[in-house]
Amino acid sequence: MSEASDIPTAMKHALRRFAKSVSIVTSNHDGEDYAMAATAVCELCLDPPTIMVCINRAAAFHRTMDIADYFCINVLDEAQQDVSVACGGQLQGEEKFSVGRWEVHERTGLRFLPDALSSFICHKQQAMVWGTHTMFVGIVKEVFEHESSDPLVYLDGAYFSCKPLNVED
Ligand SMILES: Cc1cc2nc3c(=O)[nH]c(=O)nc-3n(C[C@H](O)[C@H](O)[C@H](O)COP(=O)(O)O)c2cc1C
Repeated sequence: MSEASDIPTAMKHALRRFAKSVSIVTSNHDGEDYAMAATAVCELCLDPPTIMVCINRAAAFHRTMDIADYFCINVLDEAQQDVSVACGGQLQGEEKFSVGRWEVHERTGLRFLPDALSSFICHKQQAMVWGTHTMFVGIVKEVFEHESSDPLVYLDGAYFSCKPLNVED
């Protein structure tokens, strides 16, 4: 049990046990492309088809998301750890696109990863500021499922692949 004042520390620690699929969120503004690794991505509902992502207001990416009309969620394949590392703090700005194979979505100009498990092109609808973060909500306009294997998982500060448990008959 934790005292109320210790809750953020206890929560941060306990959240390390939360196995999360890793995504790369991309957006663009004024012809500039931006990308960021994110685990705080969640489907909101199917009617209308909606996804949300929570972004730290201190991130450079936040400025673009605030202005942009569209964003893209790319769910990473286990072979794309290097892309997560590059977009998760190692590289800045346009340099992030030097790691991984990127393509441009024709209608929105958004960068996406054709080697990811899937990509969702989203039209931003709402932004709700909550403490240090903003929750961006977008309606899914297009979905791509790419040919790939298993998801990249982030757990306890490390990357894992995800394998099925053996089921006894
Ligand atoms: C695996 C992983 C998951 C992350 N998830 C999030 C997230 O969900 N939300 C967030 O705001 N930052 C998240 N981050 C941190 C950002 O990716 C990181 O701060 C990035 O450097 C921001 O880039 P920018 O400041 O150039 O926009 C994550 C980082 C990693 C490595």
